[in-house]
Amino acid sequence: MFSLQGLLVLLMSITHLSQAHLIPHFRSNATEQEVIAPGPIITRRASPSNSVFAHFMVGFTANYSVSSWENDIALAKAKGIDAFALNLGPDSWQATQVSNAYTAAMNQGFQMFLSFDMTAWPCQASSDANPIRQFISGYSGHPQQVNIDGKMLISTFSGESCPFGTGDVNTGWFNTVKANLPPTYFVPALFVDPATFGGYSAIDGVFNWNGAWPMSNDDINFAGDQPWINGLGGRTYMAGVSPWFFTHYGPNSFNKNWIYRADDWLWATRWEQLIQNRDQVAFAEVITWNDYSESHYVGAIDGVQPNSQSWTNGFDHQGWLDLMSYYITAYKTGIYPTITKDRVFLWGRLYPAAADSPDPVPRPNNWQWTQDYLWAVVLMQSPGSVTLSCDANSQTFNVGAGLSKLKLPLTTSCSVSSKIVRNSVTTVQFSPPGFNFNTTPPSYNFNAFVAASPP
Ligand SMILES: *[C@@H]1O[C@H](CO)[C@@H](O)[C@H](O)[C@H]1NC(C)=O
Ligand SMILES: *[C@@H]1O[C@H](CO)[C@@H](O)[C@H](O)[C@H]1NC(C)=O
Repeated sequence: MFSLQGLLVLLMSITHLSQAHLIPHFRSNATEQEVIAPGPIITRRASPSNSVFAHFMVGFTANYSVSSWENDIALAKAKGIDAFALNLGPDSWQATQVSNAYTAAMNQGFQMFLSFDMTAWPCQASSDANPIRQFISGYSGHPQQVNIDGKMLISTFSGESCPFGTGDVNTGWFNTVKANLPPTYFVPALFVDPATFGGYSAIDGVFNWNGAWPMSNDDINFAGDQPWINGLGGRTYMAGVSPWFFTHYGPNSFNKNWIYRADDWLWATRWEQLIQNRDQVAFAEVITWNDYSESHYVGAIDGVQPNSQSWTNGFDHQGWLDLMSYYITAYKTGIYPTITKDRVFLWGRLYPAAADSPDPVPRPNNWQWTQDYLWAVVLMQSPGSVTLSCDANSQTFNVGAGLSKLKLPLTTSCSVSSKIVRNSVTTVQFSPPGFNFNTTPPSYNFNAFVAASPP
């Protein structure tokens, strides 16, 4: 998210979430983690049944045509995403793009739902409900609209301070999304203490935005989700899942300059936790498809960037998509798929976290939470050896069939490469162009360089 108000909301929510995160965590020092073999994990599904959405910033699509939307949709659909959550603000051009999105979804056999960005919509007066209600009426019954139990799915970013002219937030939202409208299924991202969910009768579930990252210098842990699930009392839990977080706006800009900790294979570990608990996690929402401002985009960089070029250009993240797709299959079916080809997924920062840079925007807050590693996930058809290298710095790991997580410390300027060898035969030799670690950073760019060996 991107507005100043959004920043305040996030800061407030950090406070809330750190309370939820008091459960002890640990940081793993393991170089090689346990192998996840193909096969069943947990066969009980959630109800409603497990679906995967991706958060999509309509605000960065000013130059989109219907066919631009179709490109994103075709890619997302091929990787197992069921729908885009259209994060929208009140600008009239955004309404046009929402219309284009639904049209493209119709052309491509895909689905959409509205996610009102309440850091952008006014919501104090009762009349502030009108434009939101018009959107809901307008897309209700649309053939590409996501419906849950026959009700139109509606979400938000934030909205916990929206009384809409009533004395309280729950009544305000009831009047806005439920009263005298076609049936809606309301799953907002409220930044409130989950122990208070009992007071929100207007919600059918909650989207745990900040659950996508550890809010401290720890590994992600599903124990942080449990208070949300408990607070919902059987209503629908939508978990956030994200590969990364880095935003770098200086004091003269949005003054928003920090990281969340994505070390220890956050993208993989978080998915594994949602899969392990898939009977309690009805929906997973990928954060995000296209938010360049916070470096957690997984789609192509094809929109109008919010002055994020300096850390986004040259940092394509689509290498994360096939790994996501592998996990999505397991999340939806309860079975880790059979691996039909050896694959290597590599990511990491290109610069040491502690190295100085002439960048006029300071080093991002929380920079001490990350260590200098090449992060790797391998999918192995059968046991073999995996070598991770950065020039002369090289380690070889014997790994079993299935998915394994590996890492290599990065200390000197070097170029990353990898290979898989089985019975003296090299099955993968992968040296991604541009994956160069550099100890003299031109800027404090903590974005991830991402690469995947060919499918
Ligand atoms: C991990 O390594 C650090 C530094 O070597 C050490 O201080 C810490 O105790 C280790 N943690 C675990 C869980 O082994
Ligand atoms: C939109 O504009 C950006 C910045 O100029 C450009 O990189 C991108 O390709 C454009 N996208 C489309 C769909 O035209």
